[in-house]
Amino acid sequence: MREFLIAGNWKMNLNPDEALELTQAIIDGYEMDQELPVQVLICPPSVFLAEAADIAYDSELWIGAQNVSQYPNGAYTGEISAAMLAGWGAEYCIVGHSERRQYFGESDSLINQKSKALIEHHIRPIICVGETLEERKAGRQNEVVSAQLSGCLQGITLGIPSEIVIAYEPVWAIGTGETASPEQAQEMHAFIRAELAKRYDPEVSEEVQILYGGSMKPDNARELLSCPDVDGGLIGGASLKADQFLSIVNTAFGLVS
Ligand code: PGA
Repeated sequence: MREFLIAGNWKMNLNPDEALELTQAIIDGYEMDQELPVQVLICPPSVFLAEAADIAYDSELWIGAQNVSQYPNGAYTGEISAAMLAGWGAEYCIVGHSERRQYFGESDSLINQKSKALIEHHIRPIICVGETLEERKAGRQNEVVSAQLSGCLQGITLGIPSEIVIAYEPVWAIGTGETASPEQAQEMHAFIRAELAKRYDPEVSEEVQILYGGSMKPDNARELLSCPDVDGGLIGGASLKADQFLSIVNTAFGLVS
């Protein structure tokens, strides 16, 4: 059975004190019930990872990164390798976020290389896919997401438990306050699962967590998380406020208890 994964994407926000305060507030703010299938993850900027992982060490909170180099080591000024992230305690890493595709020119093939580097170091990539508003208006969302999946998953073999997470993030819903309706989210998540079943064993595709991202908030989390193929959320804005993030976490707990 798939577990919920509630993941906070802090993006490039907060100062060191705020980052530690937020990490602590999240750890203190929910009671993890080992029996319940809900995982909680924060992805702070890399400079805060080591300390966040330190604070979270004895807790049930998972720590992840937002980006990684495709290279293992060497003369790549400014880059951070998967081995370094693993050393800092990162268990997950977001790759292919639409902001990285848009502002840093990341292609599906680069995202594929980064995902492989992460898997090699036992870090689960959270691979982001999603269409733009123009693409949705033109009815091309399935075609776009299918092509992104093909490029990003090239040569990646999957087992159970799954080494990857997929995040469906319609670009038009990120940071805009616009959210996909539960019907739109469910339709795309089911499509992604069917696409995974074509590429992998159907049993494997049933195990892959598919998160929804794009203006998920306390007031829409319940209806989105109630969709059968939505296995959690990748949460940006609302993950920067402990009360809002915890409210979404508690919604997930409420749905499985
Ligand atoms: P948002 O961001 O929740 O602020 O829309 C989601 C994301 O970009 O991962």
